[in-house]
Amino acid sequence: VAGARSARAVAAAMSVFVTRRIPAEGLRVLSQAGGCRVQQWDSEEPVPRAELLAGVAGKRGLLCLLSDRIDREVLDAAGPDLKVISTLSVGFDHLALDEIKKRGIRVGYTPDVLTDATAELTVALLLSTCRRLPEAAEQVKSGGWTTWKPLWMCGYGLSDSTVGIIGMGRIGQAVARRLKPFGVRKFLYTGSGPKPESAAEFGAEFVPLTRLAEESDFVVVTCALTPATQGMCNKDFFGRMKKTSVFVNTSRGAVVNQEDLYNALAHGQIAAAGLDVTTPEPLPTDHPLLSLKNCVILPHIGSATYATRSTMAVLAANNLLAGLRGEPMPQELKL
Ligand code: NDP
Ligand code: DGY
Repeated sequence: VAGARSARAVAAAMSVFVTRRIPAEGLRVLSQAGGCRVQQWDSEEPVPRAELLAGVAGKRGLLCLLSDRIDREVLDAAGPDLKVISTLSVGFDHLALDEIKKRGIRVGYTPDVLTDATAELTVALLLSTCRRLPEAAEQVKSGGWTTWKPLWMCGYGLSDSTVGIIGMGRIGQAVARRLKPFGVRKFLYTGSGPKPESAAEFGAEFVPLTRLAEESDFVVVTCALTPATQGMCNKDFFGRMKKTSVFVNTSRGAVVNQEDLYNALAHGQIAAAGLDVTTPEPLPTDHPLLSLKNCVILPHIGSATYATRSTMAVLAANNLLAGLRGEPMPQELKL
């Protein structure tokens, strides 16, 4: 009887809810961990809110995605047994951290392992946007390509340009490192304060946001979404940018005021924009931004390489297990 009771206690201690179908490598880590009892929303589509609330009830661990809003309602539904939340993302703006901290819940996340993939996608989006690749490819299909024309399909190049990076963190630095060999003349950056060690490799200059907007030929947003960065790229910001400048955002959609961005693009205040992230996600197919030729929009695929997503899943699973066992996590968010 005592043995059965202790086996039940171990199973309860390792009960987890996984909110989506994740790469098999991650699920394997959980299923091979002795005593880990996994309940999963095994679908490519998001878990309905009611299923999330029911699924998390009584669990010790939660493995969630950036599209799951983990707020007080979810934490209440989970109850006092919830000890660890592991998110399959480096961004954590979907987590109510104050409430989570108050309840003594630990949080794991996935920094570093997705930096290269996201920086690569940022550069791809920047080049696609400034050299008008989707628009040009469409011309080939539609018969708009009639001959080689000196004034046709011209864009803007990186050579001798000034690039402004909003958020010189892991991804911001990885983007600068990849852009430098294209012949960028000057890097500017902004953030909560100068970071001489991060900036030295690129000779990047710390400037206020207003100066970054005014002087950059390319603005690249790679900051975290926080109360301070929410809506930061707004009418005033776009109004300061040059008519020939290109704006790229691979952080979070809410850093941008999309109505102000639409107006800036539609009225030629800036040349073009490339977005991997929007508000909401997915962006409705009749959204005004999608009617603009000078706006390239991707469906939040920054980290989407097979290898990166697999590594993220394994890291998220190991964070979860370490949290359940009361051990140091491979990547714990300090609350
Ligand atoms: P880091 O924590 O390394 O970098 C975040 C940066 O945000 C820091 O440099 C920080 O600067 C900056 N920041 C914070 N506040 C401000 C501010 N007020 N103004 C300007 N910058 C600010 O995170 P990562 O580089 O790993 O990731 C960054 C973000 O990218 C994630 O939070 C996530 O939202 C997004 N992301 C998107 C992906 C996609 O698929 N599109 C994939 C991966 C991440 P400071 O230190 O000076 O405060
Ligand atoms: C993140 O990790 O925050 C991205 O948005 C998806 O990889």
